[in-house]
Amino acid sequence: MIAIGKVATTALGRRPLLSLISVALIVGGCSHSQSALDPGGPAAEQTAQLWWLMLGLSAIVFVVVLALLGYAIVRASRHAGPGNRPPISDTLFLGVAGVAVPLVILLILMVDTVVVGRSIIVAPTPPQQTVEVIGHMFWWEIRYPDHQVVTANEIHIPYGVPVRVTLTSVDVIHSFWVPQLRGKLDLNPGKTNVTWIQADSPGVYRGQCAEFCGIQHALMGLLVVADPPDQFATWIAHEGQPAAVPTSPALQHGHQVFVTEGCAFCHTIQGVTAAGSTGAVGPDLTHLASRRTLAAATVENTRENLRLWIRQPSAIKPGAKMPPSDLDPQDLDELVDYLESLK
Ligand code: CUA
Repeated sequence: MIAIGKVATTALGRRPLLSLISVALIVGGCSHSQSALDPGGPAAEQTAQLWWLMLGLSAIVFVVVLALLGYAIVRASRHAGPGNRPPISDTLFLGVAGVAVPLVILLILMVDTVVVGRSIIVAPTPPQQTVEVIGHMFWWEIRYPDHQVVTANEIHIPYGVPVRVTLTSVDVIHSFWVPQLRGKLDLNPGKTNVTWIQADSPGVYRGQCAEFCGIQHALMGLLVVADPPDQFATWIAHEGQPAAVPTSPALQHGHQVFVTEGCAFCHTIQGVTAAGSTGAVGPDLTHLASRRTLAAATVENTRENLRLWIRQPSAIKPGAKMPPSDLDPQDLDELVDYLESLK
């Protein structure tokens, strides 16, 4: 409610049209954390301005057409009969309202679209940081090639500077969309698309797969966390470290469960799993406990959710590729303890 109140207040303070739309969106259940009309970076800002121009011009056309319609109805009912001549000739009216005016409006929109499109292709300054995003059914593999960091579903970036993002997929076509930061771009198998994102202030920006990719497309979310530069440096340094070594017998047993019960076939824990394990099937879990969400931004990363996710993934995400497990309760608890220790 606080978030909704904040959106409403911000929106009402700006433009009357914005207020109307925002209220409609709020009523429709949209949260401010995933709205292209609440831009958080330069590319999204320009796209939003283009959208407002389109909406404004469309609204003017809509009102004028309705006014003309009303005028025609009133006039027809008052002056019915053969002597009822319109005030201007049909040809002039069609020439102006049917050709000249639409031509001018479409030209304005076309020019602005091309200008905005060209301007957001290139980052304002050359990006110093690269993030590789690899689409999987139904989660996002995140790599920082300059730092040997692999993580999932949560991209950290320093705020205030552009970050280069490369996009590809290992299975089907997905689409990377963080509405507050920029428009969509597809992740295609066998091809790499390149884009950039920039957040103007620190915060968490939710993203969503925007290309139907299967049963769990709707729950293929991600978070972009924009940190102050020093915090980002700390985060990336920490993510590059191998996993925490299990210290107590219970944690060591949890680790043993991870290795022997099949988890390690799909997931990598850096410094723990057998050499040569790539973790390409499921998310890298080296610092799982430091992430905010589980199952690609579907649920909060809490102990209860993690336990349920391991035991019965379909309870959280029907159609998820991870199989259910029939671990006995103590093994499951110690596995969860171990995973929770991976800060
Ligand atoms: Cu991935 Cu839709």
